[in-house]
Amino acid sequence: MSVFDEREFLFVTGKGGVGKTTVSAALALSAVRKGKRVLLAMCNAKERLSHLLEVEPIGPRNRTVMPGLDVVNMTPAVALEEYGMMVLKVRSLYKAIFENKFVAAVLRGTPGIEAWSMLGKAYYHVDEKLDDGRPRYDQVIVDGPATGHALDMLRVPQVLTEVAPPGLLRDEADKARSLFTDRRRSAVVLVSLAEDMPANETVELYAKLEREVGMTPQALVVNSVLPKLFKGHEREAIAALPGKLDDASPVRTLALAGRQRAMREAAQQHAMAKLKRELPDLPRTVLPMLHVPDFRRAAVESLAEAFG
Ligand SMILES: Nc1ncnc2c1ncn2[C@@H]1O[C@H](COP(=O)(O)OP(=O)(O)OP(=O)(O)O)[C@@H](O)[C@H]1O
Ligand SMILES: [Mg+2]
Repeated sequence: MSVFDEREFLFVTGKGGVGKTTVSAALALSAVRKGKRVLLAMCNAKERLSHLLEVEPIGPRNRTVMPGLDVVNMTPAVALEEYGMMVLKVRSLYKAIFENKFVAAVLRGTPGIEAWSMLGKAYYHVDEKLDDGRPRYDQVIVDGPATGHALDMLRVPQVLTEVAPPGLLRDEADKARSLFTDRRRSAVVLVSLAEDMPANETVELYAKLEREVGMTPQALVVNSVLPKLFKGHEREAIAALPGKLDDASPVRTLALAGRQRAMREAAQQHAMAKLKRELPDLPRTVLPMLHVPDFRRAAVESLAEAFG
């Protein structure tokens, strides 16, 4: 059993553009295939997921898009209202508390409240029970923001524990922090590319999550990896080949393409080695670069295979 199967809460993050949404979607489809009921939640994102999953546009309220899978693109305003309602249960109480102008002012002035509204909603769904007592979701997957914003977001429960006045907000932040830092229930999943800059950022992010948030990542997904065509010793020969051919050679373009590919593979290997060296204990899953004209559901389904 992997981290992906066992944790109730997965927070997916990494550098911008490395494939966080794609990986979150693949994790969700994999969990659904295994019979889990899953909530896949984006954080006020430019919504691409509906295109990827080939479903109707995804809004700020949970919606079932296929058996076993609910999705939502959380926004601070709706999440705060929902979360307030979920905690307080009674709309009049919600209105009295959250729509009270003093409370509203305190909330507006509370650092990180927007991030908290989304994280709090995700947290709430992890523990949410149906009327018959079963959990509503077996797994909540948050398609998190990129590096810096993710750190800011995950720091919020800690900040609230320190700055919020004693009461509901602080208690909830405390409980959320306990859940997020419980390694048996929650895991941060880092996504990287096998390239120099994303690999460096991943190593730094790992350290910051561990040191500043108390959440040691438990899985690394290296995305968009090219299959290795050339063995190490072949690379040098391939790289030297264009120089040995004259301009009129019918295989010159082929040799140039070969050289480019060999250089890419060398850079990829270098980044992979760095990730392995710097994060030796972090289990990694490698996802292939897919060359498809329209990256959609079938592509995500095929990446999901890597998660079992
Ligand atoms: N394994 C893959 N093979 C080929 N293309 C991929 C793969 N994974 C992701 N992509 C493409 O890379 C682009 C970025 O992916 P994605 O949107 O998942 O990244 P992201 O980290 O969520 O970005 P952002 O930081 O903007 O939220 C998309 O166009 C996606 O289709
Ligand atoms: Mg994304």
